[in-house]
Amino acid sequence: MYETIKYEVSGNIGYLTINRPKAMNALNGEVLDEIYAACTEIANDENVKAVILTGEGKAFVAGADIAQMNQLDAIEGRALIAKGHKVMNYIESIEKPFIAAVNGFALGGGCELAMACDIRIASEKAKFGQPEVNLGIIPGFGGTQRLPRLVGKGMAKYLIMTAEMIGAEEAHRIGLVEKVVAPEELIPACEKLAQTIMSKAPIAIGVAKTTINNGYDLDIRAASALEIEAFASTFASQDKTAGMTAFLEKKEAEFKNK
Ligand code: CAA
Repeated sequence: MYETIKYEVSGNIGYLTINRPKAMNALNGEVLDEIYAACTEIANDENVKAVILTGEGKAFVAGADIAQMNQLDAIEGRALIAKGHKVMNYIESIEKPFIAAVNGFALGGGCELAMACDIRIASEKAKFGQPEVNLGIIPGFGGTQRLPRLVGKGMAKYLIMTAEMIGAEEAHRIGLVEKVVAPEELIPACEKLAQTIMSKAPIAIGVAKTTINNGYDLDIRAASALEIEAFASTFASQDKTAGMTAFLEKKEAEFKNK
């Protein structure tokens, strides 16, 4: 059904793989459309409780498609970038955890796609960077905004202005990735993480994600007000009763996503 991505569901995990290995999984308009379509499936499928997003071959994603961008004028370029933002914002808004399994190059739009995910696990072989200034442009799928939020303004400016490519350990040190594992451990580690998260109350996981994302840019009072309402919504769930009762009865909770 998809031409440029693979999407399958197994054991409540949605596996979304960018699949243009000959072009280092570069993101053109079609790939962005297909990621968006797969995300719609993910959002609407109760069976899917977590997502692992990765790239086929030696790259995670080496950025927006330079060959396509080279053909675009400023108005068309703006439309492509707006489409990229729509995809990244959609990933952030879906109340399910997205884990980026960064297998190789995560450059430009690839680093930005990883940053739109909730948690990043990197292979020791992964490489990160925002090399856009080499091309006469700036990061356009959220890099100027999400990178400083993850690693701080100074480090984001350093990476964006130098276009330096950094390895997985350095990405971990600066807070761009949460964990580094051996290449063969990448998918198992992401599956283990997904299993851990999926064993918790799904409504709480979803509300935690969107409360963090939606509150991050608010001032502390507005963000606190947001948390009060979000907390109340979990308090109204059946899983709150299931979780607390199980604790008091010294049992394992069985969550129903209700
Ligand atoms: N767009 C289009 N094609 C790309 C690509 C990209 N971002 N990255 C790699 N490719 C293509 C190459 O052109 C090459 O195609 P051919 O086989 O037809 O020549 C193929 O993928 C393999 O790439 P290389 O031969 O370059 O492989 P390598 O192992 O020597 O180098 C690499 C790998 C370091 C990732 C290198 O390909 C590279 O630097 N890629 C570009 C990275 C980049 O600049 N990304 C930012 C893009 S701009 C952006 O993303 C803007 C934004 O924020 C939205």
